Amino acid sequence: MKINKMFLAILLVAYSTASFGSDEVAEAVKLTPNSKNGKVTYELCASCHEKSGWGKQDGSFPVIAGQHRTVIIKQLIDIRARNRENPTMFPFTGDDVIGGAQGLADVAEYVSQLAKTTEVGQGDGTQLNKGEALYKQKCVACHGANGQGDADNFFPRIQGQHYAYLLRQLQWIRDGRRKNANPGMLALIKNLDDKNLSAIADYVSRMELDKK
Ligand code: HEC
Ligand code: HEC
Repeated sequence: MKINKMFLAILLVAYSTASFGSDEVAEAVKLTPNSKNGKVTYELCASCHEKSGWGKQDGSFPVIAGQHRTVIIKQLIDIRARNRENPTMFPFTGDDVIGGAQGLADVAEYVSQLAKTTEVGQGDGTQLNKGEALYKQKCVACHGANGQGDADNFFPRIQGQHYAYLLRQLQWIRDGRRKNANPGMLALIKNLDDKNLSAIADYVSRMELDKK
């Protein structure tokens, strides 16, 4: 499916309005974070995401180190609200564990400052040209040429992420299993089969990290 720029612009505006509509996300994003406090909370998170925030190469736990602060805040709130099903992590997202908006802002800040990694799980490397072509055609507008995302628009950084995790998210988003999925993204991937998604995930998992 070809998508024109106008359509994309409308989707972007619709999406931004929807995400800023969440008071709690907006509130946490505006607060001044306390990274030291976030570090204390992070000790709990480390049991799954590792001390480094690099998760596991098999994709069971994603890299979260270096993710945009805004994106982390939104994901935590979505997981807590069951707008993104994550039964494994759900018990660790309550107010009693992380705290309210300030607690969310603090832990998100700490995680966003952790060093990123290129030591991620990758695919079999057989479809990289196809993956690159599909990525350039369908993903660059939001996630950027190098997968760096966009903090202001809540577009996740996807560079430096495990292949298996990327593939799972792409499948879940395509199949409607991730409730918080971006509608513009869904429209672009709903007709891609697993082979195509695997090609894209492999290409993305090999992207270079940007400096910031
Ligand atoms: C018991 C294990 C576990 C714990 C503890 C845990 N997480 Fe997670 N987390 C997961 C899993 C599993 C996923 C990926 C779920 C999926 O595949 O959708 C995840 C996903 C995330 C994501 C979304 C990543 C993305 O790229 O969208 C963020 C952000 C996150 N965790 C942050 C945290 C923070 C902060 C804490 C501590 C307050 C924490 N997690 C504690 C298991 C855990
Ligand atoms: C219209 C903008 C847009 C386009 C185009 C788009 N995405 Fe996304 N994508 C998003 C947003 C926004 C999210 C986060 C949704 C949320 O809040 O959970 C996301 C989430 C993701 C995630 C999950 C990240 C994580 O850490 O869990 C992956 C992987 C991803 N996109 C890859 C892609 C790929 C590959 C393409 C091209 C085939 C693509 N996206 C096209 C906006 C877009």
